[in-house]
Amino acid sequence: MPSPDVDARLLAEHVAGSPLILAGPPTPAQLTGYAALVDRRRRREPLQHITGEMYFRHLRLTAGPGAFVVRPETELVAEEAIAAARGRPAPRVVDLCTGSGAIALAVATEVPAAEVWAVELSPPALELARRNVADLDPRVTLVAGDAASALPELDGTVDVVVSNPPYVPPDAVPQDPEVRDHDPDLALYGGGADGLDVPRAVLRTAARLLRPGGVVVMEHAEVQAAAVREAAAVIGAFTDVRTVPDLSGRDRMVVARRVAP
Ligand SMILES: C[S@@+](CC[C@H](N)C(=O)[O-])C[C@H]1O[C@@H](n2cnc3c(N)ncnc32)[C@H](O)[C@@H]1O
Repeated sequence: MPSPDVDARLLAEHVAGSPLILAGPPTPAQLTGYAALVDRRRRREPLQHITGEMYFRHLRLTAGPGAFVVRPETELVAEEAIAAARGRPAPRVVDLCTGSGAIALAVATEVPAAEVWAVELSPPALELARRNVADLDPRVTLVAGDAASALPELDGTVDVVVSNPPYVPPDAVPQDPEVRDHDPDLALYGGGADGLDVPRAVLRTAARLLRPGGVVVMEHAEVQAAAVREAAAVIGAFTDVRTVPDLSGRDRMVVARRVAP
């Protein structure tokens, strides 16, 4: 959803270094700097790449080229994982495809008793996640690797697996230049004709990692709800497989519970 007024104000505050209400009249250097930033935004560079920051739940994360810009709708995915983790003593939580580390850091900071691992394949995303983990919660264990084979040492011991994996099909190239030209392909396209190769691998890994009664929470596109429930069902390891809508009523995540093997 375009928001040019908000973007213009945020860029001005970035240049001013304070909320506009507290800033004095702009200096000539600030005006020149502001014009340059507006021009970058006009050419559809993501706001978060220009300001170098993005917000997720109560966190201010570092953002940058080479890593996915976390989306507001993913806050509800984190919320489901947090709700599933809360109330368990010392819950173990794994965030697969962590990108900037946003979900893992939200869980770690909102469920202080949790032990959190975060898995990511892309070196530039890992670098950004490393920085965010160091800045926001160094207790998160960051792991370089493929979600399909990650963390075998935790098999059968994890309470919650959460993921916002890539899930865009190859024929659904995003229209917005901010997404198409700036989010990495590895972060967008899930593989296979339906975009669900990586999400299916995430569900298989969740079945391997979770202890009986453990919960998997995974984001997907609205049109993929039935296919993702089916993908969870065919693994034969989950019960209570359900689709959860986002705040606007769109089916955007699957939640399922591990049965005893
Ligand atoms: C849609 S982005 C989401 C990032 C983050 N979870 C968020 O919500 O902002 C998907 C992430 O998965 C990573 N990824 C893609 N395939 C992967 C794989 N097989 N194993 C681990 N990470 C993978 C991408 O590099 C990207 O950072």
